[in-house]
Order: sequence, then structure tokens, then C-alpha cells
Amino acid sequence: MQPPFVRRASSFFAGETPPLFANLPLLPADPILDLGRVFAIDNRPHKINLGIGVYLDEQGVTPIMAAVAEAEARVETAEDTKAYLPPRSVPGFADNIARLALGQDSDLPGSGRLGVIQTPGGCGALGVSGGLMRRSGIKTVVMGTPTWSNHRPVYTAAGLAVRMIPYLDRATGGVDFAGYRAAVEQLGPDDVLLLHGACHNPTGVDLSPEQIDIIADIAAARGFLPMIDTAYHGLAHGLDADAYILRSFAQRVPELLISYSCSKNFGLYRERTGALIAIGKSPDRAAVLESHMLDLAREFYSMAPAHGALIVADILGSPELEANWRSELATMQRSIQARRNLLADALEKTEVGDSLSYVRDQNGMFSLLPLSPEQTQRMRDTHAVHMAASGRINVCGIRADNVDYLAGALASTMIEDREMLSA
Ligand code: LMR
Repeated sequence: MQPPFVRRASSFFAGETPPLFANLPLLPADPILDLGRVFAIDNRPHKINLGIGVYLDEQGVTPIMAAVAEAEARVETAEDTKAYLPPRSVPGFADNIARLALGQDSDLPGSGRLGVIQTPGGCGALGVSGGLMRRSGIKTVVMGTPTWSNHRPVYTAAGLAVRMIPYLDRATGGVDFAGYRAAVEQLGPDDVLLLHGACHNPTGVDLSPEQIDIIADIAAARGFLPMIDTAYHGLAHGLDADAYILRSFAQRVPELLISYSCSKNFGLYRERTGALIAIGKSPDRAAVLESHMLDLAREFYSMAPAHGALIVADILGSPELEANWRSELATMQRSIQARRNLLADALEKTEVGDSLSYVRDQNGMFSLLPLSPEQTQRMRDTHAVHMAASGRINVCGIRADNVDYLAGALASTMIEDREMLSA
């Protein structure tokens, strides 16, 4: 009998050994990230981009914010080495993000009950939070339906079960609060409830302040851990109003996790800039949480990239630059709202009438339109309108010069099907 290495080598040369990764199937492209590629290769001049969640101004451009450009120039001038920085955070980033999230007046930063680390974007923070949950013995992450398409994969990869509960009321375009509350009332200490900060993705439908307080009180009474994914802070009603959910939960529950993304509100998408904030029951518990967050980061990616965080730290460390950034962010927020109104006004002039006028009142970049995957495909193929297969639109792709065309395309796609159904 030949020794195994000979057998293996000879069958390899005969082309008989299956490839080592033969058990891995080909996967479909990411349902959101691939939208950009498909849009780029569409050469129809009237194409409309309602796909990936990036801010576009009225000219269809994703600008570098002026405060970001100014801070970046300062960072580059000051930088004289690329040696490692402390893995917890570049100086001035993590603590300033906690202040932005929890408020200038919060006594949490001074109480020692905060653990905070810089992460590669909001997604990095979600990944570390999943590891932390698994290490703590949490079994299930509970999410309202629908949620961002990457939430389930992130927590499943961390070895947690995912359970969906009601959230969106598709008939009204608002929250099914009775259904959501009833499901939340069943949760216990083995569960995490994943909530969205302002600007729910993909629906644009947020809990009201009263509803937030009710859910936070239930969390305190039932003892489950709330995890708030905050990716659009400032883009619904401004920085303070949008932080209501964070501050209400922080006041009511003993322990809380917050993922914070700087992709949208600082326009730093490709710089992968974010943070994971943990509120512990006591300073000792916060220190334990932060030590695990750092350990998980080391395990996954060692430490977050510095560039975007240095820019944010520079902005938040300079009152003048911070004021400029706040004012640019407010302009973006008003522009998004204006685009919502444009769409609602234009749709009201079509056969769709006021049946979608809820897009006017929703928050942030996204609304979920009642379109099937087949209809969204038809919107792309027939009308050159690109959106997620779920019917999610990013309203930032709407402009004064394309909104009537878009409303007409939406109306004809929806009405065609209604007529076919009633024929
Ligand atoms: C989106 O939902 O479009 C953005 O958050 C981009 C992403 O990573 O999915």
C-alpha cells in the first residue's frame, strides 16, 4: 500500500482530487451592495438611483462634507507616522461619540458605567456586539419585521438564534405597535431586542417618544438586553431629537448596547468609522464589558482603521468645526425631507393618489414601497429605476427633474398589476 501522501499527489496530478473548498456553493451577491454595480453599468441616461443608503444632494452627488474636508486636511498635516494607535480608540473619538449619543448633560460618562470602543463602521460594532452576546450566554436576538438585510447574517454568524416579531403595519405605513408591544412583553433575560436608532432601515418608520418609553419600561421590567443600532443619527429630526431613543433607554435600563455609525452623518462611508457603546450596571461591569469588546475586536480584526476616526475626533474636538458640521448635517436632513415631499406631491397627481402619502411623514433616507420583487425588477428593466428587491427606496435619488417620471413609473407599475388582478 502506498503512503497517503503518494496517493494524494498522484491523484492530484490525475485531476481527481476535489478542490479543498468543494463543499462551498456559489453565493448570490449582497442584495444592497450589488445595487451600486448594477446601477453603474446601466447606460440609460434617465436612470434613477434609489438603491444603496448613501446621501445624495439635489445634484445627485455624495459630497465630502466641508467640515470633514477641513478636518481631514488638518489630520494629514499633523500625521507624521502610521504606527499603531491605542486599540480602544484614536484620541478623542470614542468619548466624543458617547457624548454625541448620550448628550452633553448625561452623567453616564463621568459615572464610569460606560465601555466604548472604536469599530470599523457600524457593522464592526454589530459584529463585536454579537460576540459579546454569545459570550454572555444570550441565546436569541429578536428583531422587528422587516429589518436591515445584514442584521440576521451578523447575529447568525455570532452563533445566535434570530427571531422576527411584528413591527411595520404595511396597511398604514406606520408601526404595528400593538403587535410589537405584545411580542416584546414576552421577552426575557436570554433575549436581546434589536432596535433601530432614528431612521429605521428599510422602512423609515420610527417609534414615537411615547412608544419608546413604553418599550424601555418593558425592557427594564422583563430584564432583556436592548441593543440599539444607530446609523443615521441626525438625519430624521436633528441630533438631539434623534437621540431620544438612546437617552430614554439609558435612563431606564441597567445595561444597554449601542452601535454607532459615522458613515451617513459624517459622510465617511468608505472610511469605516463607528463605535460600540456598552452601558454596564456598575463601573466594574462596564470595565468587564469593555475588556471583552477589546478582546473580540482583537480576535476579529485587531483594531479599527484610524483615518475616519481621526477626522471625527478633530471635528468633535473643535467647537467651531463641530458647529459647521452640525449645520451641514441639518441641511442634509432638510434636503431629505424635501425629497420626501417632492415624491408624495408627485404621486398624489397620479392614479396612486394619496395611498403612499405616508412617505411624507417617515424618517431618513428610506421608505418601503408596496412592490413585489417582480415589480422592482420591472421598475429597473422597463423604467431604469433602481431600488432594492424588497421595495426599499432611498429617497435621496429623487430630484425635482426626475420626480414626475419616477411617480409615473411607480404608478404604472402598481396600477398595471392591480388591473391584471381585477381583470
Ligand atoms: C444600506 O442599508 O443601504 C446601507 O446601510 C449600506 C449597507 O451597508 O447596507
